Amino acid sequence: MIRKMIGAVAVGAFLLALTGCSTAADTSSTGAAKAPGDIVVGFAQVGAESGWRTANTKDIQDAFAASGMQLKFSDAQQKQENQIKAIRSYITQGVDVIAFSPVVETGWDAVLKEAKDAGIPVVLTDRAVDSKDDSLYVSFLGSDFIKEGEKAGQWVVDEYKNQTDPVKIIQLEGTTGAAPAIDRAEGFADVIKADPKFQIVASQTGDFTRAGGKQVTEALLKSNPDATLIFAHNDDMGLGAIEAVEAAGKVPGKDIKIVTIDAVKDGMQALSDGKINFIVECSPLLGKQLVDIVKKVVAGESVEKRILTEETTFTQEQATAAFPTRQY
Ligand code: AHR
Repeated sequence: MIRKMIGAVAVGAFLLALTGCSTAADTSSTGAAKAPGDIVVGFAQVGAESGWRTANTKDIQDAFAASGMQLKFSDAQQKQENQIKAIRSYITQGVDVIAFSPVVETGWDAVLKEAKDAGIPVVLTDRAVDSKDDSLYVSFLGSDFIKEGEKAGQWVVDEYKNQTDPVKIIQLEGTTGAAPAIDRAEGFADVIKADPKFQIVASQTGDFTRAGGKQVTEALLKSNPDATLIFAHNDDMGLGAIEAVEAAGKVPGKDIKIVTIDAVKDGMQALSDGKINFIVECSPLLGKQLVDIVKKVVAGESVEKRILTEETTFTQEQATAAFPTRQY
């Protein structure tokens, strides 16, 4: 009898591994049904560095308000130590689930282990952690940043297909060590590397902010006056770059083409105005899906280990058409 039970448990675990699902039982014992009002979620946000982040915060707060669950929210101001402090405080408070969008990829194992030991399931939203132990979180909901970089690279390859002269590129990187900065750079480089005419002549972080994008572009245009393309890892840095390009007496979108990622309203306006040439979408609307994951985790149901966000790309015409109904 006991041997049969052990067998059944082993088969169950095997099937879960096969379907890529995990349950809260991996990290906690919160199996009992709870009323929404009794469920407490601690969310540790990256900061308020960009239009994308503001939209993401609003969407998460709105979704939890509509769900009736209690949301504790903290803003780490783009500092990993603040996020770790917030997560520790949620552990001490004994919340039901912790969700967070990691500022950087590495350095999370210790605090995630503390959450696991306390029986509190963790859901990653937007950004991944670089950990060998994927039992430290139950699910990761967000974009495929490598694919986003590849889409930006593919537009560049297509745009310059008839040009033989070198295309000198300035890359404005996101926060150093952050998953979207690492992955977007990798995806972009992978696609353009097939043709040696594409040269990334300078690559520096603008920390995903408009001010950072402006400041870095100003400096890099001085040392690379022959650059004709800027790849910015988000709209905000691209918008800052527009100001720097104009201040240098050049026309953004023409003398210097600009490709960005996000598709927030300000970015879409600049694309529609012809100051940005192409935008790869990265959706910040993760709130409803996060609420669903939390409900399942608290109920002890299985959740997908990796949930991908659906995204598209925008040309100038597409941005003009999409603008009136854009949510963020
Ligand atoms: O992690 C998502 C990225 O973070 C967005 O592209 C950027 O705008 C934000 O700051």
